[in-house]
Amino acid sequence: MPFDKNILCIGAGYVGGPTMAMIAHKCPKYKVTVVDIDPVKIAEWNSDTLPIFEPGLDEIVKKSRKKNLFFSTEIEKGIKEADIIFVSVNTPTKMFGVGTGMAADLQYWEKTARQILECAESPKIIIEKSTLPVKTAQAMERILTFNNKVHFDVLSNPEFLAEGTAINDLEYPGRVLIGSHQTPDGLKARDELVDIYTNWVPREKIITSGIWSSELSKLVSNAFLAQRISSINAISALCEKTESDVMEVAKAVGMDHRIGSQFLNASVGFGGSCFKKDILNLVYLCRHYGLYEVADYWEGVVKINEYQKERFVMNMSNAMFNTLAGKKICLFGFAFKANTGDTRESPAIFISKRLVEEKAEVVITDPKALDNAKKDLKDQDDKVSYVEDPFAAASGCHAVAILTEWDLYKTLDFHKIYSSMTKPAFLFDGRNILNHQTLFEIGFNVYPVGKPALTHF
Ligand code: NAD
Ligand code: UGA
Repeated sequence: MPFDKNILCIGAGYVGGPTMAMIAHKCPKYKVTVVDIDPVKIAEWNSDTLPIFEPGLDEIVKKSRKKNLFFSTEIEKGIKEADIIFVSVNTPTKMFGVGTGMAADLQYWEKTARQILECAESPKIIIEKSTLPVKTAQAMERILTFNNKVHFDVLSNPEFLAEGTAINDLEYPGRVLIGSHQTPDGLKARDELVDIYTNWVPREKIITSGIWSSELSKLVSNAFLAQRISSINAISALCEKTESDVMEVAKAVGMDHRIGSQFLNASVGFGGSCFKKDILNLVYLCRHYGLYEVADYWEGVVKINEYQKERFVMNMSNAMFNTLAGKKICLFGFAFKANTGDTRESPAIFISKRLVEEKAEVVITDPKALDNAKKDLKDQDDKVSYVEDPFAAASGCHAVAILTEWDLYKTLDFHKIYSSMTKPAFLFDGRNILNHQTLFEIGFNVYPVGKPALTHF
């Protein structure tokens, strides 16, 4: 059966895989191919064990795979056949040379642009799906139009999905943003992309803008989200000093509809592959344009996050008689948030390493992230152990620290956990998900974030 359109996505990661699975699922008349340089990942996308855990992903992949959804390593062939190419490669923080630790490392992105130029034989729409510094489309256009061999239109279509809820976010997006040049060609290309999304997204949710605004909106969205978390986390420190309860404060503040109630959960700090890198990228851009005060303002969001993670470790140490040396501490959760196995920039990485520095013994449990945890902590081997069963993990420990808000931790038998632990037993709730009064009555010394501690001393 011939397909109406050939869509290619370069990059089969957390964004490329689920996003293309949704397009294939909603648009059976389009052929969607996802390519990657990593053959292992592609083999996993073609197997029963997908490379990422995301609720609902297995079902939609299995429905479309080998019908109109294909995963392949044949990048050149994919480029030749495609009418529309999404580029969803990684854009990590640069770790060398100019802009080290701040700027986006665009080497994967640029390689992709050059490969498209090399292989393309017919006109194509190229869509930036990755998160990029503002004005990246200009660089892409300069590479693609270098020899005027083929006509390309470049669009920006940033992705706003959050991990753990990616399938729902893709199916019912709050908005889809498409940035284009306001030229006849740019607007025609934009309308082709609008047509894809209108297969399932209400038209009023698809917003269009200039290409630079679109690129910048993505960085700013992530900066605003992270800023809310750093704001409430900063206040959590003050709550702990003043016997206030950060959850009560967040509720009162969030009920002002101008502020809103979401993203005000105080925590052990935000993680994930994007918040920190995107804010640092924004900071770098501001400094590049000489906007030093603006840069400092946004950098503060990252600084508070680092402070919050360190504060959590210090609170543990202070509570446990100012020494963690030789103590066995069990971490409940290693993923950067619930419902994902992703551990990129997870606060658990920092906390584990700091605990090891303090000469504690660390036991890690997590329902989905243990494999990634082992990779993240491979240099800490003899100080860290990994146990799937949370009861076995906590047994013999001096403290349990909740680092990921997995639902399963809310319903565990904490009587049983308490009875197997070394006394006095401590519980540090880095996500404020447990009933602290009940835990206290069981016998734990309980330390939530931004709330008064409940102790038996
Ligand atoms: P990822 O690391 O999971 O996936 C990127 C993939 O691109 C990898 O599999 C890598 O092998 C592949 N790749 C790199 N260079 C390639 C090349 N030249 N040819 C073919 N494949 C290549 O990254 P991700 O989390 O999917 O993020 C991708 C982009 O989307 C980033 O810019 C990120 O900021 C943005 N983003 C991520 C999320 C998220 O939740 N993870 C959400 C919104 C936006
Ligand atoms: C985030 C954004 O929510 C997405 O819109 C965006 O597309 C994505 O980044 C991206 O560009 O990568 P994600 O990082 O997957 O999505 O997950 P979030 O739900 O935003 O959580 C990020 C971190 O903040 C997690 O560690 C989470 O536990 C923490 N968090 C979140 C809090 O500590 N408190 C909150 O109130 C909310």
